[in-house]
Amino acid sequence: MSTTPSPREPRSTVRTLLRLWPYVRPVRTRLFTAAFIAVLASCIGLVIPLVLKWMVDGPIADRDPAGVWLGALYLLLLGLAEALLFGFRRWLVARPLSHVEAEMRADLYRHLQRLPIAFHDRWASGQLLSRATTDLMLLRMFLAFPLTFLLVNGVTILVGVIIMLVQDWTLGLVILVPAVPVLITCVVFEKQYSRAARQAQDQVGDLTTVVEESVLGIRIIKGFGRHRSQARAFRELSGKLRGTELHKARLLAAILGIIVTLPELAIGAALVLGAVQVADGELSAGTLVAFLSTALALRWPVDSIGFLLAMSQEAATATERYFEVMDAEPESGATASPAKDGGPREGGLRFENITFRYPDAPEGSPPVLDRVDLHIRPGESLALVGATGSGKTTLTALVPRLHEVTDGRITLDGRDIRDMSREELRSRVAVAFEEPTLFSATVGENVLMGGGSGEEDLDRALAVAQADFAHALPQGTATQVGEQGLSLSGGQRQRLALARAVVGRPDFLVLDDPLSALDVHTEAAVEAALRRVLADTTALIVAHRPSTVLLADRVALLSGGRITAVGTHHELLRGNAEYAHLMSGDPAEELEEQR
Ligand SMILES: Nc1ncnc2c1ncn2[C@@H]1O[C@H](COP(=O)(O)OP(=O)(O)OP(=O)(O)O)[C@@H](O)[C@H]1O
Ligand SMILES: [Mg+2]
Repeated sequence: MSTTPSPREPRSTVRTLLRLWPYVRPVRTRLFTAAFIAVLASCIGLVIPLVLKWMVDGPIADRDPAGVWLGALYLLLLGLAEALLFGFRRWLVARPLSHVEAEMRADLYRHLQRLPIAFHDRWASGQLLSRATTDLMLLRMFLAFPLTFLLVNGVTILVGVIIMLVQDWTLGLVILVPAVPVLITCVVFEKQYSRAARQAQDQVGDLTTVVEESVLGIRIIKGFGRHRSQARAFRELSGKLRGTELHKARLLAAILGIIVTLPELAIGAALVLGAVQVADGELSAGTLVAFLSTALALRWPVDSIGFLLAMSQEAATATERYFEVMDAEPESGATASPAKDGGPREGGLRFENITFRYPDAPEGSPPVLDRVDLHIRPGESLALVGATGSGKTTLTALVPRLHEVTDGRITLDGRDIRDMSREELRSRVAVAFEEPTLFSATVGENVLMGGGSGEEDLDRALAVAQADFAHALPQGTATQVGEQGLSLSGGQRQRLALARAVVGRPDFLVLDDPLSALDVHTEAAVEAALRRVLADTTALIVAHRPSTVLLADRVALLSGGRITAVGTHHELLRGNAEYAHLMSGDPAEELEEQR
């Protein structure tokens, strides 16, 4: 949850944006129709100057009021047609584009669920949040507006320039003079703006992370009176973001200055030149009017190029950020062929020569688990004991494949877990972790997430976990808990998590210190009930306290990344000094002496 890796090789804006095609494909007909309509509407706008020319050189010169009225009617109809077509375009694109955005967001969410834990360890959650919100919104805006209008304005400018050249080619060339510097500006701008846009969007992600962490950790922040430093961190980040946004604004101002000023100067020059030509009788007044009103009609298409390029650039960055997540490899499914293992099937849960190193661990650091061998026989329950930080949680996380083993293999009833589909594996193995997480749902829904169906299973699981308090909640097991519901105590949450683990009657149960938050009486009651469940379940239970250890048939001691002893609690207590030390709770002895 710390840094954000952004491996990025520079890609051109267009190439990046082309990656959106699969999402845009389903709505392409509407999008193209809308673009065509916009081009049509825009070109209708260019007919208006021609009508003006006809009016100036015809009815106005001839002082024919009827003709003028007719011209005015034409203008009105043209304006109306243009407005209607633009309105129609907007209506055409609105729905399909919100559909595209929703699809992309759903895909991102689905992908995030399938990405391995290692990915989530590495990425700050705020970065993921900002990609699912801000970036996707930028993309929808891009598809709705700049994508169409870069095309529409391009065509409009082209048609307009042709019309002007046909009216009077010398004046047309004058208007064209700024084209070259404007183009150069655009290219330079694109590069610089791209960098700034990326920076700003990453900073939005960092800011989101700070907000998210301070909301989740509000108790710690208040408890330690850290709100000032937290506020300072937020201010610093938002100050940085503001700086980047100002930099973007300055870039945009610079390009707008050039894009707006140069053509304006050219129009002024053309006006002077044209007026001289009209005075000399070389040009009709109507032609000059048509010419200038065409030039003025092109002002918006030209002026808007800066904005459109900026928005496209932001969209390209958003696309890049979106696909950085989408390109991350999801968890692999079954890797080897299921039929390959012959020989006698060995039951139970077996760790064979397991070596594990976290993917983000520094090169050359010793592995957390080093050639661990452990066999839990069918129906047996084995307690795993070890000093804090010895790798117990890590070992348990390998069974449901939250992390992949670096070397060795884990088998369930003789089958390599990598030969099973995730669904099969996770339906056979149930887990409860140290941190009991409840979702914003009812108590019943939270428990039944672990499998099982209906009231009966639910009641049985609640009874095993000594979580009968759930029946006494305001709406019983239908009470909302989690972030949007009732807050439960640590021990209550732990018992619901335990109920979730046992509700599906799994063949294999992996419990990471499941009773740590319970008082001794509740713990004893849970143990009595668990013992009945464990009778026909193969279980691996991480334990810190003798009372939990006594639940198990045997105990294994994890030390220095290896299993250093296996036996019953009493055997180890007598024969293993480290174990005796861990279980005695006696701080006087130095662990180091025994090594
Ligand atoms: N996601 C991770 N990425 C990198 N290293 C990790 C990660 N999680 C744990 N570690 C490291 O692996 C080692 C073992 O951690 P683990 O959580 O398995 O210990 P544990 O035995 O469960 O301890 P405890 O009794 O305190 O729960 C620790 O040194 C820890 O720093
Ligand atoms: Mg642990």
